[in-house]
Amino acid sequence: MLARALTYALVGLEPRRVDVEAFLPAGVPAFTIVGLADRAGQEAKHRVRAGVASARLAWPTERRIVVNLAPAALRKEGSGFDLAIALAVLAASGQIPAERLAGHASLGELGLDGRVRPVPGAIAVADGAGRNGRARVLCAAESAAEAALAGVEAIPVRHLAEAVAYLLGEQDVTPAMAPLASIETELPDLADVRGQERGRRALEIAAAGGHNLLLAGPPGTGKTMLARRLPGILPPLSRSAALEVTRIHSVAGLLPRDRPWLTAPPFRAPHHSASTAAIVGGGAAPRPGEASLAHRGVLLLDELPEFPRPALEALRQPLEDGVVSVVRVGGFALFPAQFQLVGTMNLCPCGARGDSALECACTGQKLAAYREKLSRALLDRFDLVVAMPRPRAAELAAPPGECSPPVRDRVVAARRRLSREPARRTSAASELLDRAVERLPLSGRGRARVARVARTVAALAGAERVEAEHLAEALSYRSPEELRRR
Ligand SMILES: Nc1ncnc2c1ncn2[C@@H]1O[C@H](COP(=O)(O)OP(=O)(O)OP(=O)(O)O)[C@@H](O)[C@H]1O
Ligand SMILES: [Mg+2]
Ligand SMILES: [Zn+2]
Repeated sequence: MLARALTYALVGLEPRRVDVEAFLPAGVPAFTIVGLADRAGQEAKHRVRAGVASARLAWPTERRIVVNLAPAALRKEGSGFDLAIALAVLAASGQIPAERLAGHASLGELGLDGRVRPVPGAIAVADGAGRNGRARVLCAAESAAEAALAGVEAIPVRHLAEAVAYLLGEQDVTPAMAPLASIETELPDLADVRGQERGRRALEIAAAGGHNLLLAGPPGTGKTMLARRLPGILPPLSRSAALEVTRIHSVAGLLPRDRPWLTAPPFRAPHHSASTAAIVGGGAAPRPGEASLAHRGVLLLDELPEFPRPALEALRQPLEDGVVSVVRVGGFALFPAQFQLVGTMNLCPCGARGDSALECACTGQKLAAYREKLSRALLDRFDLVVAMPRPRAAELAAPPGECSPPVRDRVVAARRRLSREPARRTSAASELLDRAVERLPLSGRGRARVARVARTVAALAGAERVEAEHLAEALSYRSPEELRRR
């Protein structure tokens, strides 16, 4: 008797079909799993066997049992194949109808007590099943809402016995509803920031155009504070972007259990002690890194020069291409990584530089080593570089500045404008740009980035064309060299 269950393995974010075939040939009783890595196969065997026993189902002890996960060449990570393996064995031994099982995909880890446990990536697996015409997915109750987001009928099962009862038609199971959007947590407001008009303006431009922003200055001037206020002025994600973001977080196993539907742009702020793999992604079983978890949102690298240089250099490629490719056995896994980078830094190790009231105590050598961390190539990718001076006493005593909601409204309006026809430059603006290429000098990338920022400035102003003044403002933020000179 041969029976088949369908499941999916993930390559990066992509579901790959896996056929779990169970076969009970005559012979000495034994249980063999082929097509899984050795250790994973051993572990799955124990869980499946114990799970079937606890579900008070009959384990076919008098037969040989061979389970094949095809294609064998596909590397299969994780424990999410247990449910499919158990169901295939039960169908092969005639305990559930094989045809009915064939109409479903299944996903879940089994506990030794037969409980079905959630595994990461349910939405991606469900998406694969839907594309394959299998509109029904059996999965752990905890993953069902997430799977439903993919537009399939997600059948929540808490226990292997429940899955069997459902497949036998003995028990009705209500398919899960797609979840409600995750609740936006209270975000910090711009009203808290005193002074720093130039920093606030740069933040608004960065939000409107999705530009990369570097805030530099002495300690305690509000750099971190300002950076953390970016999410509060960003518009919510479109439906398709939200699905994409939710899927990445699902594969990373980071979705909130109660409302696994992310609709706000992600904000990631890894600590500088994080490994390169944690930041860009990778590892033996490739997982999305911070760069991908920040996809369609913000990646904040607070204290930029404290990050190890290899991690910073590894970010250059995704910053250009919007995608991370991770080497894995038998090829690459691709993770989207279109994020907006925000960095903060002091101007020197002792922090006094840029503060007119203090004297820098750094040796030339220390200063050089500090700056060496940030390659020109990385600095070139910051569209907006802002020096944040120490606020004067009068600024700190002034009444609170504008709060976030009206800024967000302007950002939304500018984004709408930017999504339509790109604004053309006036000839005066073009001349200014050409001169800047010579004078600054600007790299080819720098030129393109300045032109984009100028378009954003024009959109914020509601202008039809990019005028010289918009271009001049964009250029005024284009001064990574200034960080070296100060
Ligand atoms: N412009 C400001 N307006 C209001 N409060 C400020 C401002 N700048 C600093 N502060 C106060 O100082 C604290 C520290 O600010 P923040 O952490 O943003 O400094 P920073 O520039 O990131 O310094 P560092 O370089 O040491 O990281 C804030 O929590 C806030 O209370
Ligand atoms: Mg800080
Ligand atoms: Zn110093």
